[in-house]
Amino acid sequence: MKTKIQSLRDYSNDYHESVVDPEKFWSKIADNFVWKKKWDKVLDWDFETPKVTWFENAELNLTENIFERLLPTHENKTAIIWEPNDSEAAPIHLTYGELFKATCTFANALKAQGVKKGDRVIIYMPMVPEAAVAMLACARIGAVHSVVFAGFSATALADRINDCEAKMVLTSDGNYRGNKNIPVKAVVDEALDTTQFVEKVIVLKRTGEKVEMKKGRDFWWDEALEGQSDRHEAEPMNAEDLLFILYTSGSTGKPKGVVHTTAGYMVFTYYSFLNVFQYDTDDVYWCTADIGWITGHSYIVYGPLLAGATTLMFEGVPTYPHPGRFWEIVEKYKVNQFYTAPTAIRALQVHGTAPLEKFDLSSLKVIGSVGEPINEEAWHWYHENVGKGNCPLVDTWWQTETGGIMISPLAGITPNKPAHASLPLPGVQPIIVDAEGVELTGNNVEGNLCIKYPWPSMIRTTYGDHQRCKDTYFSTYKGMYFTGDGAKRDHDGYLRILGRVDDVINVSGHRMGTAEVENAIDEHPEVIESAVVGYPHEIKGQGIYAFAICDGSDKSPEVLEEEIKQLVRKIIGPIAKPEHVQIVSGLPKTRSGKIMRRILRKVASRDLSNLGDISTLLNPEVVEDIIKGAGLD
Ligand code: PRX
Repeated sequence: MKTKIQSLRDYSNDYHESVVDPEKFWSKIADNFVWKKKWDKVLDWDFETPKVTWFENAELNLTENIFERLLPTHENKTAIIWEPNDSEAAPIHLTYGELFKATCTFANALKAQGVKKGDRVIIYMPMVPEAAVAMLACARIGAVHSVVFAGFSATALADRINDCEAKMVLTSDGNYRGNKNIPVKAVVDEALDTTQFVEKVIVLKRTGEKVEMKKGRDFWWDEALEGQSDRHEAEPMNAEDLLFILYTSGSTGKPKGVVHTTAGYMVFTYYSFLNVFQYDTDDVYWCTADIGWITGHSYIVYGPLLAGATTLMFEGVPTYPHPGRFWEIVEKYKVNQFYTAPTAIRALQVHGTAPLEKFDLSSLKVIGSVGEPINEEAWHWYHENVGKGNCPLVDTWWQTETGGIMISPLAGITPNKPAHASLPLPGVQPIIVDAEGVELTGNNVEGNLCIKYPWPSMIRTTYGDHQRCKDTYFSTYKGMYFTGDGAKRDHDGYLRILGRVDDVINVSGHRMGTAEVENAIDEHPEVIESAVVGYPHEIKGQGIYAFAICDGSDKSPEVLEEEIKQLVRKIIGPIAKPEHVQIVSGLPKTRSGKIMRRILRKVASRDLSNLGDISTLLNPEVVEDIIKGAGLD
């Protein structure tokens, strides 16, 4: 069996084989890799506990499969191209040989600072090659990395440090983002005031701004590297040893640490990268995500490097110093595969096609989308103006928990259908169920999206709380993984993702739990109760709309609204700041005391049609007040 699918017939055959005999299928893919010890059993699982083991008792190190496996042929091939925020500044090209040495040197530095196999290391860094090196160095020594998006607040960072009891934080002095310079180290300092686990902080000099360095705790990156050898013998890891933890929001409580393990994640990210993007040996591939999200983990760092690809990392933002920056980069490096989010497409669409016309995009072969449903208008704009009508557009559906792309066209192989994630990858068995969990077979059906069989890169647990993993993903529908998304299978059998069906809002492709934002709002001393909902937003996909009761406050609603927005920004980060805050006299509640969010969603969407029956509410009178307050009367 070839690893790379080359035709629709290959796809059908491989898909069939992957369902009939998944163990045989995945063992053949896994045979591409070097193993210190082969597995005893490919898969052991039950979705009841839940317990999933791939490649049982095998031993390996993921980085050996990037370096030792590929160096004989890839030593001088560019592994990472780094384009800095400042378009005039020099880029960096790192070959596989150089990346290997950098990884080994940093691995030795981590060990010298006391990091051992199994220790948790937080990476809170800008988009610089050192961030990728840090991830790989952790994997090399068997430390578990947890990358935290550098836009999160000190409180959010502290919560994550405390949850995984991290021993070390890797960060930078500052972080360039467009025309901003974010003082990252200062955020770390503030976070560390409320945590007790971190022993050492290693700080990369990026912006050169003055930072406080605490003696005995904080070390400069260069200082840590001094005298370290660029050779390092990879730590043998069990297939199911933790590779990383990545925190993500859900519909309840604080963000949870999604756990990914070594072998299954390696096999699936490699396989999905090669097939979805149809990467060819000399291609230059660019994914615009941040390494703080799963897309950055799987499709900037691990998948592409395991496939021996040249992967581009961009430090900046799409509109700095001009709205054609993305296209300038495509031209500069002759990018062949370009992978971004619908929110970026919509934001660039606003500038029209003039910024695109200035640059030569003829190198592009494949364009991709991820993170949220792509609306048809954005799909067509992207396809016609960026892809010039002849690049396959891969609309890739997946999640932090799935580790890799689950449902997507394979570029140039699966016929393109606008706004459809289309068909599952081999090894992925999605089903649509109704509210009772009954599978809706056949075409032209719509319901909740579940996965009924394990795949190698699936979530293993939520760090430190296995029950939460079971409750969140495996309890809604017995014997299935529930995605939290709605989906539709059309008359051709192609899948279209309809968005979240739970209390998760997708803002610019970033997941936000309504409960998380409400908890932040409730920290305001004058807020008695709050409710947060999502509403359709032209650029961001969804925006955050908050309703808050602030009885007895002397402050004007305008002052309270602004204070609440700033508070959320401070507690979680700028991405969680509500677009709208409405001070209300009450929240619509059912007789059992549950907030009726359906009504709030209607108000936030400024659409009062089909408001439904409100007579069963405990307090129907507040609905009129809320509608009036929103200026909709
Ligand atoms: O609702 C789906 C949406 O993003 C959610 C996962 O978010 P996160 O874990 O942050 O991962 C984002 C990057 C993989 C999903 O539950 N989503 C992701 N990709 C798509 C999508 N919705 C529709 N179409 C997509 N292609």
